[in-house]
Amino acid sequence: MTEAWRPDGEDERRGATGPVKVRVPAKVNLHLGVGPLRRDGYHELNTIYHAISIYDELTARRGDTLALTMEGEGTGELALDDTNLVIRAAHALAGYAGVLPHARLHLRKQIPLAGGLAGGSADAAAALVACDALWGTGLSRDELAGIAADLGSDVPFLIYGGTALGTGRGEAISPVLARPTSWHWVVAIADGGLSTPAAYRELDRLRDSGAASDPLGSTDALLGALRQRDPRVLARTLGNDLQDAALAMRPALADTLKAGEAAGALTGIVSGSGPTCVFLTTDAADAERIAAELTAAGVCREARVAHGPVAGARVG
Ligand code: C5P
Repeated sequence: MTEAWRPDGEDERRGATGPVKVRVPAKVNLHLGVGPLRRDGYHELNTIYHAISIYDELTARRGDTLALTMEGEGTGELALDDTNLVIRAAHALAGYAGVLPHARLHLRKQIPLAGGLAGGSADAAAALVACDALWGTGLSRDELAGIAADLGSDVPFLIYGGTALGTGRGEAISPVLARPTSWHWVVAIADGGLSTPAAYRELDRLRDSGAASDPLGSTDALLGALRQRDPRVLARTLGNDLQDAALAMRPALADTLKAGEAAGALTGIVSGSGPTCVFLTTDAADAERIAAELTAAGVCREARVAHGPVAGARVG
């Protein structure tokens, strides 16, 4: 039987011969409801994830060992050894599929480190998708998401992308049916990161001392707003239980949030465990104007525009 022709030098039995390039987005949490601390050290979450158009890019090539190189946003601070989430992802997939973990991986980072945008988790998702294509292991997205869950709570979402409900510790993903609308965001990136475990600990402390805001309720209002096309309606439903903790750890973020709203954003919230703040705007032009104002005001290191939802980790 003649072998079917496949694009990009891909052969189903042996994987790709040429380089495999995967683009993976950052995430924000439109709703981040944090429940009690569990016995395993994680908090029960009820969250709506949303993938936005700020991307890291991972290229995988054939190699005789597993090697990782990096360039871009904050990469000087990252270890290149077995503690790196990209390396751990490649080992996890190879172990699951019964293949040798051999690849030369190169990561171009644009998602800030420890920014509350799941940059490290995104890179792990990209490594799973890239190595699956390189090695021809042919796993389904659900299988990749199963491996992803062991690497970090946010990693499964970044395999799927779009807008999705996350439960459990954030790793159990169900898609959210929404109208095909693009929402326009300004992403205000701070100097330096915040530690996610420290933000959760600070929230527990604030709650124990009665100083935290009331926990967010259900996601119903947000899910209803996502079915409409009006960003003003959506703005009223965004919320993040970790915001109090991020503000306590980095009080200057209150000025960033105020400046965004003063510049005309519909609302602003801290993204995940911070310190990145994200602002919902009425349209792309408004987002550009507000980003320029925030940068000029000096309330963040850099303000970028982004839209969402976008797809998760994808080859191409
Ligand atoms: O899952 P991941 O490794 O990204 O989580 C990093 C840390 O964030 C955990 O070790 C835990 O301290 C905190 N976390 C949490 N509850 C969650 C997710 C993360 O307390 N649902």
